[in-house]
Formats: sequence, structure tokens, C-alpha cells
Amino acid sequence: MREAMTYEQAKARWQAANPPRNSLSIGDLNRETAQTVLALAHAMKRATRQGQELFRFARPTAVALIFEKPSLRTRVTLEVGLYQMGAHGVYLTQSDIQMGTREAVMDIARNLGRWVQGVIARVFLHTALEELARFAETPVVNALSDREHPCQALADLMTIQERKGDAPLTLAWVGDGNNVCHSFTLLAALLGHTVRIAAPEGYEPRAEILQQAQAFAAESGGAVLLTHDPCEAVADADAIYTDVWVSMGFETEREARMRKFLPYQVNESLLRLAKPDAIVLHCLPARRGEEITDAVLDGAQSAVWDQAENRLHTQKALLALLLG
Ligand code: CP
Ligand code: NVA
Repeated sequence: MREAMTYEQAKARWQAANPPRNSLSIGDLNRETAQTVLALAHAMKRATRQGQELFRFARPTAVALIFEKPSLRTRVTLEVGLYQMGAHGVYLTQSDIQMGTREAVMDIARNLGRWVQGVIARVFLHTALEELARFAETPVVNALSDREHPCQALADLMTIQERKGDAPLTLAWVGDGNNVCHSFTLLAALLGHTVRIAAPEGYEPRAEILQQAQAFAAESGGAVLLTHDPCEAVADADAIYTDVWVSMGFETEREARMRKFLPYQVNESLLRLAKPDAIVLHCLPARRGEEITDAVLDGAQSAVWDQAENRLHTQKALLALLLG
């Protein structure tokens, strides 16, 4: 049973641990601030499920939600989470604001900073987030970029804690070394886990991310290993994580990717190589029959619906700590 935690306790722990102003990357967190977000998320989940809220904004609070790409989970959990905490989200699509064409990113940031208390953005280019953060004068949160998806990783590690506890584990990533892989690897390494990544040649995680994750692992006692062999990555693993083979923005590469990724499908025979009680993770949306089979996604070892639920609780915890 996890220790009960109040928002005030979490905020004090957060403030004492050199907290970041923004959440653009998992690299903005340290082990203590990451653990604080997760601990508060567990407490918030328990409260929300009992019809209560641990935190409500004391002042009128509005947040801009910029989405250059589609979303189900991220948009709904952000809007619902802000509502539950008494704040308001203003949803802005690319056709509304046309970032970088109708108006320069820095000018959009300067405007928003005069009206809202936070900016959350899903963008094609990570550099757009950095520019928003430079000019917005409010905290900026990454809701997915080409480089990272830190909100996702917090929900992933919360789900792993719920299912497996806090001891160091072996976690296998199978598939594209993409944005989700980057944030997951960084956070898992920060928290002391061993991450084994199996990606096809040419689709490995970025070298600078691997380096950063390996530096985290050297501090935390974890490890980060890269292979091209999915069987090697999942052998005796405690969790297997996969994501789509064609991320948003890469649609023109679809045919070439399908050929390369075929041996990386998470199916029942691959799952049998992991520990018998291993869990299966997927950030969703899934392409059933491509990177993951129906039998695995809908099977007893799948934790994907908890993972999706936990997007709500981890983002609420993060926003309460960043903006509260
Ligand atoms: N996992 C995730 O971010 O889902 P959406 O793209 O639907 O927000
Ligand atoms: N890697 C995927 C994640 C979607 C949530 C993408 O960027 O499209």
C-alpha cells in the first residue's frame, strides 16, 4: 500500500528538489521530482476514484492546449484533468492558430503569456516547444513532439509501479526508437530500471537520448542496452512496451517501415519469452495486427487501459506541481 500524500507535502518535496519551470523533456526532471509527480499521481488517483480531489487551483487558471496533430488520450485527459482541478483549457488546433505561418511561434507565445497561466503543446518540431518556452513567460508542457512524449512516460512508469512495485525491473522496448521510446527510456533509467531496446537498423533511438539515458542509469543503478534482436530484448523481461511503426508525421515512409518492422511484432510467441507475469504496455493508439496482435492487446497480461487511465492522474499531478 502506498503512503498517503497530500498536495502540500508533494509541493514541499517538489520545491526542495530543484524543480523545473517547464516539462519539455524527461531530462527536466531529476529522480526526486519524478518520484514526487508519481507519488502525487497515485494519491490523486485514489482520491478521484472516491469522488474527491486532492488539489484545486486557488486562483482563476486557464491553460492553452495547442495541438498541431490529432489526439484522443492527451487532449481528453488534459481537459478533464484541468476541469477536475477547477482550471480551464483552451483547445487550439493548427487550423486555428497556424503556428509559424499565420504568426511566428514567438509572437504566439508572447500573446498567450498575457492571458493564460500555462501552455501545453503537441507539435511536429521539438524546437517549437523550446521557442514557446523561451517567449511565453508561463510554464510550457510537451504534449508530444518529434523528440519526446514525457506526459506518456509518467503514466507508463506509474502503471509499472502499480503492477510491479518500485524495485528495479527489466523493461523491454520493441519497435521504433521514437519519441515515446525516448521519454520512456529516459524516465525508466532515471528511476533505476534496466531498459533493453530492440529496434530495426536505422530506427534506433537518437544517440544523444541514449547517451543521456545511460548517464541516468549510471547514477541510478539501471542500464540501457540496444539490440536489433527482439527475442534478446524481451528474454525474462518484466514488461514489454511497443508503439506504432509509423508515427504521426512519418506517413510517407509507411511501406518501407512495414517491411523493416515485421519481425518486431509483439505477439504471443514473443510474449512467451518474457517472464510469465510480464505486463504489456502500449501508449495507444494501436494498429491492431501490425505492431501488436489482438490476442496480446486484449490478453490477460495487457496493462494498456490502466496506462491510458493513468495519463489523467499523472498529468494532473504534473500540472498541479508546475502551475499550483
Ligand atoms: N498516447 C497518446 O498520446 O495518445 P493520443 O495521441 O490519442 O493523445
Ligand atoms: N509515436 C507515436 C505516439 C502517438 C501517441 C506518434 O508520435 O505518432
